Amino acid sequence: MDCGGSWLASGSFSLTILLRSRETSHGGPWLDEVVKLLRVVQAALFLTALSNASDYVGSDACKTCHALIVNQFFRNPHYKSIASGTETPENTGCESCHGPGKAHIDARGGNATIVAFSEIGPEKTLDACLRCHSQTISRANIRRSVHTQEDVVCSNCHSVHNSKSPKFLLARKQTELCYTCHASVKAQFSMPFKHRVNEGVVECTDCHNPHGTFAASWRMSSRPRMVDQKEANEEPCLKCHADKRGPFVYEHASVRIDGCETCHMPHGSTNAKMLKRPTIFTVCLECHNGAGSFGIANNGAIHLSSTHNMADPRYQNCTTCHVRIHGSNADALFMR
Ligand code: HEC
Ligand code: HEC
Ligand code: HEC
Ligand code: HEC
Ligand code: HEC
Ligand code: HEC
Ligand code: HEC
Ligand code: HEC
Ligand code: HEC
Ligand code: HEC
Repeated sequence: MDCGGSWLASGSFSLTILLRSRETSHGGPWLDEVVKLLRVVQAALFLTALSNASDYVGSDACKTCHALIVNQFFRNPHYKSIASGTETPENTGCESCHGPGKAHIDARGGNATIVAFSEIGPEKTLDACLRCHSQTISRANIRRSVHTQEDVVCSNCHSVHNSKSPKFLLARKQTELCYTCHASVKAQFSMPFKHRVNEGVVECTDCHNPHGTFAASWRMSSRPRMVDQKEANEEPCLKCHADKRGPFVYEHASVRIDGCETCHMPHGSTNAKMLKRPTIFTVCLECHNGAGSFGIANNGAIHLSSTHNMADPRYQNCTTCHVRIHGSNADALFMR
């Protein structure tokens, strides 16, 4: 995109400041000569800036040849820039994304005379959109998101002119959109125990921010996975499962520090309650196994006491006794 106009404009702005400050200061006659010269330069710069602005022809001029796109544009959220009538030319209508149209029209079309997203590649596409969309916090980290690193940018997910969704100009319905590239995730949401994403109850963006996330949340520092955050750096799970939030008088370190994914498959699983393992005690014994530095990690989990006879079926279902496994306000052993 051509930034010459605004650069020149800011150049003449600083000249103006210099000229103004001259009026309040005391200098010799030589300075008056300099000032005269500067005024000439300022006028020249102003004219250049003007002729630059006149490279913008307005969106109506595109209608002759791109009638369909122009006629549908009133439905686009970006139409606001035309409707308001208060934006500068480089921020109005078609030219706010495609750049000044004069050369393009003079040449009667062509992809080289305009910002053609089919040609400019992912990096410049990102820049063109972020010119206006970089302020929003949720997109602040988009440049180092995994998607950007893999050259998946705005136009891979959003379709400015041919959106298939009522909201957010998405190229397809959200779930379909994500599945076009993440086919294996689709299989996970078809497991017997799952979040009902395919059924429309939960969405990918309830847990992920496809624009990238800020800091890693909670335990996700090593594998952030663009998992979104709730307030206070919490995992997004707590938006819906608020009863698991705490703080509890007695926290279960694995929940509070390691995070929900230590025991649950967030997408779906063949195990009840979306657990990582088919029976509960095998989940627990990953840590409570007394194997010192063996096991999931040397994470301070204590060994089961000798009362727990693992051969006794009664003891295998740990949560029949340790019912408040996500944390308790009454009992250090999570029994109530
Ligand atoms: C918000 C940015 C934005 C605005 C505003 C915008 N476009 Fe586009 N335009 C794009 C992008 C991005 C593409 C690439 C295809 C896509 O992703 O939809 C595109 C593609 C095109 C194409 C190529 C054909 C096609 O459908 O792919 C034409 C022609 C075009 N735009 C004309 C216009 C005209 C005319 C206007 C004003 C009515 C306009 N654009 C406003 C972003 C924009
Ligand atoms: C005189 C006819 C004419 C006018 C007026 C015109 N265009 Fe085009 N435009 C064309 C032609 C022809 C092409 C090349 C189409 C192709 O190669 O497929 C083109 C291509 C484009 C493309 C690139 C499409 C791509 O493949 O990515 C964009 C973007 C575009 N025009 C936007 C605009 C905008 C914005 C305006 C108004 C400022 C405008 N055009 C006015 C004729 C015109
Ligand atoms: C991997 C896919 C993907 C990419 C890449 C992507 N988006 Fe999005 N975007 C989405 C989805 C999905 C939503 C809808 C979020 C929701 O439903 O809450 C969205 C929502 C939005 C919204 C409206 C809601 C909001 O958060 O303000 C804007 C604006 C937006 N995106 C702009 C952009 C821009 C600009 C870029 C490139 C810099 C971009 N997006 C890149 C998928 C993507
Ligand atoms: C000139 C500034 C500007 C540029 C450049 C720009 N946008 Fe926007 N965009 C806006 C404004 C303003 C809105 C409307 C926000 C509102 O509704 O209040 C918007 C809204 C959106 C939305 C939200 C739609 C919704 O339904 O809420 C998406 C998605 C979006 N833009 C994507 C893009 C993409 C992709 C690009 C690059 C191809 C882009 N924008 C370039 C200014 C811009
Ligand atoms: C209930 C919350 C939730 C929902 C809904 C969700 N995810 Fe995830 N997803 C996660 C969490 C948490 C992780 C990190 C798992 C880990 O690192 O152990 C993850 C990891 C991923 C990964 C990287 C790991 C892998 O399996 O390759 C991808 C890709 C992914 N999700 C895509 C999606 C898509 C696409 C959707 C929607 C169809 C979706 N997710 C819906 C919570 C969710
Ligand atoms: C155009 C293809 C494409 C689309 C569309 C797409 N992704 Fe991705 N996504 C990728 C690629 C490529 C990667 C990096 C390789 C990988 O992990 O699979 C990735 C990675 C991810 C990751 C893992 C990040 C990590 O740290 O490993 C998540 C989570 C994710 N995408 C979620 C989504 C969601 C949610 C959507 C829909 C809103 C979506 N993606 C749409 C291509 C896409
Ligand atoms: C948008 C809300 C929402 C978010 C966010 C969410 N869940 Fe869920 N979760 C649900 C709903 C609704 C159900 C009920 C199952 C269904 O879909 O019928 C559920 C079910 C579950 C179940 C199984 C409960 C049972 O009785 O079988 C587990 C375990 C679970 N979620 C864990 C998580 C984890 C871990 C996260 C974060 C990675 C998370 N959830 C994020 C809404 C959510
Ligand atoms: C130490 C392992 C572990 C961790 C970590 C864990 N859970 Fe659980 N969770 C379980 C077990 C075991 C069950 C099954 C309890 C039963 O059936 O008696 C369960 C059941 C659930 C259920 C369904 C039953 C209920 O109590 O509502 C939900 C929802 C749930 N967990 C959400 C979460 C969320 C959200 C997190 C993160 C804040 C989390 N879990 C972290 C082990 C864990
Ligand atoms: C990821 C490792 C991990 C997993 C899996 C795990 N725990 Fe823990 N658990 C811990 C750690 C660490 C502590 C804290 C030990 C301490 O305070 O010294 C703990 C504490 C406990 C305590 C309290 C002990 C005390 O004296 O304070 C009980 C009871 C307990 N876990 C039961 C379970 C049960 C039942 C399961 C399976 C549903 C389970 N744990 C799964 C790591 C784990
Ligand atoms: C029949 C009820 C019952 C079942 C089932 C049960 N526990 Fe316990 N657990 C207790 C009681 C009572 C205590 C405290 C007294 C004791 O040490 O025997 C305890 C204590 C613990 C402690 C703390 C030990 C210490 O030294 O502080 C851990 C850890 C623990 N249980 C984990 C588990 C795990 C893991 C399972 C499943 C394999 C399990 N429990 C199954 C009743 C049960």
